[in-house]
Amino acid sequence: MSDIVKPTFHPNREFAKNARIKNMCEYHDLQAWAEEDYEGFWAHFANEKIDWFKPYTQVLDESNAPFYKWFVNGKLNVAHQCIDRHLTSRKNKAAIIFEGDRGDKQIITYLELYYNVNKFANLLKNEFHVKKGDRVVIYMPMIPEAAYAMLACARIGAIHSIVFGGFSSEALKDRIEDAQAKLVITADGAYRKDKPYMLKPVVDQAIDANSPVEKVLVVERNNEDVTWVAGRDYSYNELIKSQSSICEAEEMDAEDPLFLLYTSGSTGKPKGVQHNSAGYILWAQMTMEWVFDVKENDTYWCTADVGWITGHTYIVYGPLAMGATTVMFEGVPTYPDAGRPWKMVEEYKINQFYTAPTAIRVLHKTGEDEPSKYDLSSLKVLGTVGEPIDPPAWKWYYEAVGGSKCAIVDTYWQTETGGHIVSPLPGATPIKPACATFPLPGIIAEILDPQTGVKVPAGEGGYMCVTRPWPSMIRGIWGDPERFVKSYFGDVKKDGQPVYFTGDGAIYDEEGYITITGRTDDVINVSGHRMGTAEVEAACKKHPNVAEVAVVGKPHDIKGEGIFAYIVLKSEDTVGEEMEMVKEINKVIMKEIGNIAICDDIVFVPGLPKTRSGKIMRRILRSIAKGDAITQDISTLEDPSIVATIEAKVKG
Ligand code: PRX
Repeated sequence: MSDIVKPTFHPNREFAKNARIKNMCEYHDLQAWAEEDYEGFWAHFANEKIDWFKPYTQVLDESNAPFYKWFVNGKLNVAHQCIDRHLTSRKNKAAIIFEGDRGDKQIITYLELYYNVNKFANLLKNEFHVKKGDRVVIYMPMIPEAAYAMLACARIGAIHSIVFGGFSSEALKDRIEDAQAKLVITADGAYRKDKPYMLKPVVDQAIDANSPVEKVLVVERNNEDVTWVAGRDYSYNELIKSQSSICEAEEMDAEDPLFLLYTSGSTGKPKGVQHNSAGYILWAQMTMEWVFDVKENDTYWCTADVGWITGHTYIVYGPLAMGATTVMFEGVPTYPDAGRPWKMVEEYKINQFYTAPTAIRVLHKTGEDEPSKYDLSSLKVLGTVGEPIDPPAWKWYYEAVGGSKCAIVDTYWQTETGGHIVSPLPGATPIKPACATFPLPGIIAEILDPQTGVKVPAGEGGYMCVTRPWPSMIRGIWGDPERFVKSYFGDVKKDGQPVYFTGDGAIYDEEGYITITGRTDDVINVSGHRMGTAEVEAACKKHPNVAEVAVVGKPHDIKGEGIFAYIVLKSEDTVGEEMEMVKEINKVIMKEIGNIAICDDIVFVPGLPKTRSGKIMRRILRSIAKGDAITQDISTLEDPSIVATIEAKVKG
């Protein structure tokens, strides 16, 4: 066993004095409370945090596991929780600070947010006849109207499904169809690096005669020319003018769906992860308060996009539920230069900054000295999310950005978990670099041996599982209950009972610290974005000359993981034209999924390593992509010689 790694950061005493969780004793007390009286623990926080319209009658209903129900019969409205309840004490406080790509700014107070969301909700109700339970797809850039659209849906009980603006028309179409959405809310386009880019044309392509979409609502952001389909497309900027600014919040059941968010699985098409109202918003708020320790006068900035779960929980719902000021940024962090985020930190006196390791690596690489040019003394907590952070990036973030005085909270969670599940607490946890540390209070998470379901000892890897249901957990995969059970409750059993398995491997050190070691399935993590290798393979196969394909992840300096495709072509005519084929295949991928799935490497091979039963041995392909020696037994392959051929081809 290696030497124990000692924590490199101990919470600063002054900070800890005022933190919500002040030391590890308080953390252990909370965790012990949850373990001893699970329902009492959650009832306490549900009563303290949520402005219920009607109280719940049961904390947790486990009778139909794993279709758990929380806060049974309770009534609330998430938009009310995020806006209305703050109007008595915070009506003139900034709710959203928006900075556009070109430097344009808007500060939206809670009162303004209230009026804007009410008008938007009235527009959806009155002009588009959107009702409780209807699905609305949002395909938007990072502008305040995206947040208004989410909250307007929540206000009237419609279920939003945001599709990240980088997805292609085909990907958008699939998601629209799966959710059977009747309305799409989009924008003409937005700005990136001072240039307009377009979204509306992608929506046009995604809607054909068979589409369930009846209407399209277009926010005019960049006023570029777009096509308008009469009777289908409507201008938000026009229609919003005549809407009333009062719209009563719909009374929603605790378990009414709040949103769907599509994410990649190891097989098949993306799954519509469903989150419901009360449990989700409760944990979004609690983790904002505990993990970022945002105070009343603080300004908090999460650089994610609302198209991902991080944007849902930690740009919109979490910060607004707790009444914080949240920054929304349309642009890219390296434009006009790699000092942009630090300039914004100085200007808005940002106190908590939350981003992905991939962004830290880019900012480090392209602007190592940029942080020193700005006054970053307002920063108190730095966060990372989405993928493991490597020690050099951690060190730079800690020293150059945080001035060696800020806690770095390495937050581990997933689309399905709704909010953080394993993370340091900035006033309490002694931090080790690149380590997610401990489960948050209330989250009963363990690393289990997949075979025995027993907690693994220190130093031995296992599966990261959550062994009790928690309020913000996924409630289902839209339209596919069987896949829900199979995807998350099929692999690991503890004491004979299925438990939630995250799909990630993890390891304890001798002090019980948890480090996430990465996915155990065929999901890869590209720039903190989850990508199913099966999806990329399906896209490649749409090219008429692709016979077979296997996609694996390969370590990448900036992206964390890059996409590596091994392709067997149908005809060999392309010998000498491989560059052209690579371009063509990537074009198909862009059309089917979007730029985010473009392959970093495409290698044409004469065959794939398969077992005699025809199963592709991906582990071998992963090793070859990495440049590692092959340690697996290849004698059982149908054609063992293919391994050396592929290796030679990759080495080039
Ligand atoms: O593999 C884990 C990785 O990201 C996956 C979840 O991806 P997604 O649902 O897109 O959500 C990303 C934002 C929460 C996980 O299964 N992951 C997430 N956070 C971390 C991480 N890996 C290591 N360390 C983390 N802090």
